[in-house]
Amino acid sequence: MTTSLNTADPEAAGAPVSEAVLTQLANELFAALPAQASARPPVPAMAAATGAPAPGADLTYFGLPGEAELQALLAPIIVSPRAPSAAADPAGGFYFLSEALARNPAPHQAETLPDDAFRPQLVDDIRPAHPGFDVNAIRKDFPILKATVHGKPLIWFDNAATTQKPQAVIDRLAYFYEHENSNIHRAAHDLAARATDAYEAAREKVRGFLNAGSTKEIVFVRGATEAINLVAQSWGRQNIEAGDEIIVTHLEHHANIVPWQQLCVEKGAVLRVAPVDDSGQIRLDLYERLFSSKTRLVALTQVSNALGTVTPAQQMVAIAHRHGARVLVDGAQSVSHMATDVQQLDCDWFVFSGHKVFGPTGIGALYGKEDLLNATQPWQGGGNMIADVTFEKTVFQPAPGRFEAGTGNIADAVGLGAAIDYVQRIGMDNIAGYEHDLLAYATKALLTVPGLRLIGTAAEKASVLSFVLDGYSTEEVGKALNEEGIAVRSGHHCAQPILRRFGLEASVRPSLAFYNTCAEVDTMIAVLRDLKGGRTTLPV
Ligand code: ALA
Repeated sequence: MTTSLNTADPEAAGAPVSEAVLTQLANELFAALPAQASARPPVPAMAAATGAPAPGADLTYFGLPGEAELQALLAPIIVSPRAPSAAADPAGGFYFLSEALARNPAPHQAETLPDDAFRPQLVDDIRPAHPGFDVNAIRKDFPILKATVHGKPLIWFDNAATTQKPQAVIDRLAYFYEHENSNIHRAAHDLAARATDAYEAAREKVRGFLNAGSTKEIVFVRGATEAINLVAQSWGRQNIEAGDEIIVTHLEHHANIVPWQQLCVEKGAVLRVAPVDDSGQIRLDLYERLFSSKTRLVALTQVSNALGTVTPAQQMVAIAHRHGARVLVDGAQSVSHMATDVQQLDCDWFVFSGHKVFGPTGIGALYGKEDLLNATQPWQGGGNMIADVTFEKTVFQPAPGRFEAGTGNIADAVGLGAAIDYVQRIGMDNIAGYEHDLLAYATKALLTVPGLRLIGTAAEKASVLSFVLDGYSTEEVGKALNEEGIAVRSGHHCAQPILRRFGLEASVRPSLAFYNTCAEVDTMIAVLRDLKGGRTTLPV
């Protein structure tokens, strides 16, 4: 994932296609569906059969709920005549047909942007950058993307703060409360079994998502912040002593600074900071020099929330382990943008929040190596986490139960499982590829705005574009964008140290997700350029 700008447009997977091809694709899709083949009605033939060759039937299914729903959703596509540019029409759409469309691309040539040019509305005439990814289809899975703000279509560029939720997640939460709601692990009745099964199935989904070795290594928590506090307040308090050293990086979110600072104050330990270069990337040479015989822990982010830097986390973990230190990786900003593999990272703990990966708020997970979790005393006591209680003593459950005292956020854990199912159906590699090109496009476009300074230009970046605009406060820019329906975060992003490293107290931060488009980027650029040209009036 780099900011290399010679790239094709990622939206082009939704290139125009003829009615005949659509009919054929729809029929092949039904033929490819696994069950109840005889119950499937054939898709009526289209009138004008101007034919491209037949694609295969191995189609991508982006989280739509079932065969009946697929047929209902296909109906408008297969009965109404469509203009050649229908792929880009928000009222139409191809849903899950992208894989087949990719094998049958429109006969246009691939094109790269010249380095010094920005072409607004560059969408229709480029070969798909990532076969199998149809952003126009995906957008239909997110009901909120149909909303308007100030009379303009919502453009959600605040994904680093929280992501929007697909219908599959919304429906799963409703289903839980309609059919499964019960406390878990505690009763013999049917609903307790259903709720427990759903909750533990979600744990297995998180395990698979992180590629952890066992569900015993997955603890449900409120989010990344709670997970870091859990480690600091349990393992940290039990293992850090006066004079010990903890290393964090200059890129960290406050949630990965403050709990360690609190621990250092309590224990008389020392907090050391790994510096970054002017692009916002970790200086690995200086990082390694921070280690001493007293280093016990490194806490590092995999992706910076303020700059988007993708850190060399695996290398940093290996260096820390060479020096005998434990490592916590904050994946809050990485899990939605790239595949995660905690075994490959070899980190001791990994944390993330569900709401940053298209799941509900108030749920997240802590991964910890099993032996490490079981060697750590719980931080909260209560129901669920015990094996036996007398007034003399308590025997705790092994992990993960020992860290899940009380009634947890059962429904939202199940919702998180649905979010994981959803992104895995699309494919994390598809997501990473699409976002790479979208980021490259947006970076290039932003640099055409006079007086705009981009903060964070590391070669490896995820979908964050932090900037300041000469002559305007970040709040003014945020408000001007909001007037046009564009949601960005402006401020310090809970990461004051890294912004101060660049001489700033605040920045404007559009942050992208796989449902964003080049057309949305174009709209933002137009507002920013108008602002600089004095054509946009600032809201008061
Ligand atoms: N950590 C979130 C952000 O970066 C809230 O905006």
